[in-house]
Amino acid sequence: MTKIIKQQIIHQLASGDHVSGESLGKQLGVSRAAIYKQIKSLEQLGLDVFRIHGKGYKLAQPLDLLDRDKICQHLANLGYDNTIEVHSLIDSTNSYLMRRLPNNIKHGQVCIAEHQNAGRGRRGRKWVSPFGSHIYMSMHWYIEQGMAAAMGLSLVTALAVSDAIKSLYKLDVQLKWPNDIYLGGVKLAGILIELEGQALEPCHSIIGIGLNLSMPEKSAKDVTQPWTDLQQHTSIEIDRNQLSATLVACLEHRLMQHQSKGLAVMMDEWHQQDFFLNKKVRLLTGERQAQGICRGINSQGALLLEIDGQIKTIYGGEVSLRAAP
Ligand code: ATP
Ligand code: BTN
Repeated sequence: MTKIIKQQIIHQLASGDHVSGESLGKQLGVSRAAIYKQIKSLEQLGLDVFRIHGKGYKLAQPLDLLDRDKICQHLANLGYDNTIEVHSLIDSTNSYLMRRLPNNIKHGQVCIAEHQNAGRGRRGRKWVSPFGSHIYMSMHWYIEQGMAAAMGLSLVTALAVSDAIKSLYKLDVQLKWPNDIYLGGVKLAGILIELEGQALEPCHSIIGIGLNLSMPEKSAKDVTQPWTDLQQHTSIEIDRNQLSATLVACLEHRLMQHQSKGLAVMMDEWHQQDFFLNKKVRLLTGERQAQGICRGINSQGALLLEIDGQIKTIYGGEVSLRAAP
């Protein structure tokens, strides 16, 4: 009930106009005090709400809300028909799809949300997910060939994010092995891949993408590393429904390409966008560190690191790359 009232208040405020507490209360059949309480809780979702005496409540910025019909229409125009679910408030789009495994989900099914209260990065790190500001999306992908074929998925997904951004905004992003998308040298988006299944059998993957579009001031302080958002780099107004659909289409296209031809056909494209290619890097594995020169990836998606003249092959997992000092 509270969730529905919260959603309705957000819809009323979305245009950016003033809305009085009294009229909100009347429309939703609750007291002004109850409206006040809900408005206060909107701040926890990352929304900036002002109260102006005599006029009522107003959002700092109007919201371009997600609309399932518009996303499906854009997607159909691009020639795809994935099952799309749009949620207003969710814990994490990845967790949501993971809970539906193995039988309650379709191949290529997508979940997109306006807000995540438990958005996750790798290794249980928090993904900052303010309401209505960015894209939080996950897709289910069934992998017939089994877990070994899943290794390149985060690279394939990074290329798909790059394709979508290039096609709509003509921007060139950089890719940081294994799961980050950079723009202007800092993080723009992250990818979280989760797998379920047995080692030598077909498996399920949930592919999560968090893409920053327009970071609200209040949320920025929660991000613990340098970041950027798309709106800082383009004068084109971002249509979140169009971008969501384009991301789904580009991801589906890359996943099909990966399924039929493998990662080998995408290696050149990866290397052209590789943030660290031929640069000195540090590789962090838990407490351990190694220093070397990044020499790109192999056809399985493993990192090639040159250490003392020898190429070492680093498979994914609990590893992070950083610039060498
Ligand atoms: P690596 O993948 O190399 O370990 P990383 O530091 O980016 O690099 P990840 O686990 O990939 O680590 O991403 C999670 C981190 O991303 C969090 O610790 C936080 O610093 C940062 N982060 C959280 N939310 C956002 C966001 N919306 N935009 C950019 N960065 C974010
Ligand atoms: C990272 O850089 O560590 C990965 C961040 C992935 C964030 C996305 S947002 C949609 C999906 N749901 C989650 O909880 N995480 C991913």
